[in-house]
Amino acid sequence: MTDVMILAAGLGTRMKSRRAKVLHELAGLPLIAHVLRSAFELAPEAIFTVVGHQAEEVEHAVNATATRLSNGKNVTPELSFVLQAEQRGTGHAVMAARNQLAGRDGQIVILAGDAPLIEAATLLKLVQIHREEKNDATMLTVLLNDPTGYGRIIRDDKGNFLRCVEQKDGSPEELSIKEVGVSMYCFDVAPLLDALDHLTPDNAQRELYLTDVPKILQAHGKRVGLLCHSNTEELLGVNTRIELADLERTLRERKLRQLMLSGVTMLDPSTTYIQQDVEIAHDTVIHPQVIIEGSSRIGSGCTILSWTRMKNVELGDDVTVRNSCVIEDSVIRDGATVGPFARLRAGAEIGEKAGIGNFVEVKKSKIGRGTKASHLTYLGDATLGERVNIGAGTVTCNYDGVRKNETIIEDDVKIGSDTMLVAPVRVGRGSVTGAGSVVTKDVPPDSLAVGVPAVVKKKLK
Ligand code: UD1
Ligand code: CA
Repeated sequence: MTDVMILAAGLGTRMKSRRAKVLHELAGLPLIAHVLRSAFELAPEAIFTVVGHQAEEVEHAVNATATRLSNGKNVTPELSFVLQAEQRGTGHAVMAARNQLAGRDGQIVILAGDAPLIEAATLLKLVQIHREEKNDATMLTVLLNDPTGYGRIIRDDKGNFLRCVEQKDGSPEELSIKEVGVSMYCFDVAPLLDALDHLTPDNAQRELYLTDVPKILQAHGKRVGLLCHSNTEELLGVNTRIELADLERTLRERKLRQLMLSGVTMLDPSTTYIQQDVEIAHDTVIHPQVIIEGSSRIGSGCTILSWTRMKNVELGDDVTVRNSCVIEDSVIRDGATVGPFARLRAGAEIGEKAGIGNFVEVKKSKIGRGTKASHLTYLGDATLGERVNIGAGTVTCNYDGVRKNETIIEDDVKIGSDTMLVAPVRVGRGSVTGAGSVVTKDVPPDSLAVGVPAVVKKKLK
């Protein structure tokens, strides 16, 4: 049986923040969500999270992430929270969970809530080595060119573990060691609980260090193993906002490389921001300074021009998004063109080969195939048919001060420039409105409506 414990009670003083460190976001998700994702992949029986600073918010973040990760799975780990009201060190954090851990057998993998890039494969290897070597404790370590800030691993001449030394406690000689602990361990639960009783705060920070546990176990004749991992990037923790930005860049570059290898062209990856869950198909070209966020899915052969920001969008194939568009929660179908300077808000659905031009805002509206609104227009709560042309300056007056009302424009309609469509209103198939009309009543099919308020002047053939 394997359990996981995530240490997440600290404030993270070096972040200089009111917010608990594990809530700071990396690639759009709190740090702890990244750790939890790897923990889930271990398929543990239980996950204990030690909380303290902003305990409620951290619990909320963990629960929200767990819900997302559990989606579609039938077996999920049992989640529980342990309150460490006062943060007296990493060893003290584990002690806070003593009651929950007592009586559990097997192993526990302990993780720091502030090391978000850890991969499940590495943790599985840690557990495997722990079992193969029949260790009581196995520590994950790494060699760092600059080990400043981390706890150093002291080995004897044969390379066996001796003890850990924290930055603030080390002699210059000890601090010259480049092998460090990364706050990730596998322990047998029973000996871990025994060893916790022997922790003392006789160190520079007057804390109970979890890093002292392996030495205590060894003194009691238990086995301590080390797994020195080669991928440093994966194990780095976040202590300052500089390190947070470093990891953000690491993740971002990783994502961009994946996309480029799968056939997406980036004219300038150094100014391209694409979040982790975004999918983009081959032969799409992304120009400099584009931001794509959330769960966006973009088809193949699309062109996204500069200064555009999109979030939770779905683009078909061969879509062109010109410069400086802001698009959220919208769908754009094959071959459509949007922008420059277009704003698509939640619920915009742009049909095949449709065109949405400059300074056009679309909200909660369906735009039919081949329909064009090329300039200076607001379309809200509207349904437009196919091959409709919307003249410059058209507004769907959807809000009467109390409720939002719908506008329906049927196929092949031509809306003259500066038409006000006072909703609820319908313009029938094949009809035309004159420039400057204020349409307050439904216009029947194949009619010309003009004036303020608009009246039907004649039937069109
Ligand atoms: C710790 C290790 C250090 C290691 C480094 C790797 C100890 C004593 N030192 O140092 O050897 O190289 O991590 O990143 O363990 N936490 C609590 N309760 C507490 C204190 C901390 O839950 O009382 C949590 C924090 O929220 C954080 C994690 O434990 O998620 C690590 O704490 P942090 O203060 O960052 O430890 P380091 O000083 O970095
Ligand atoms: Ca740390």
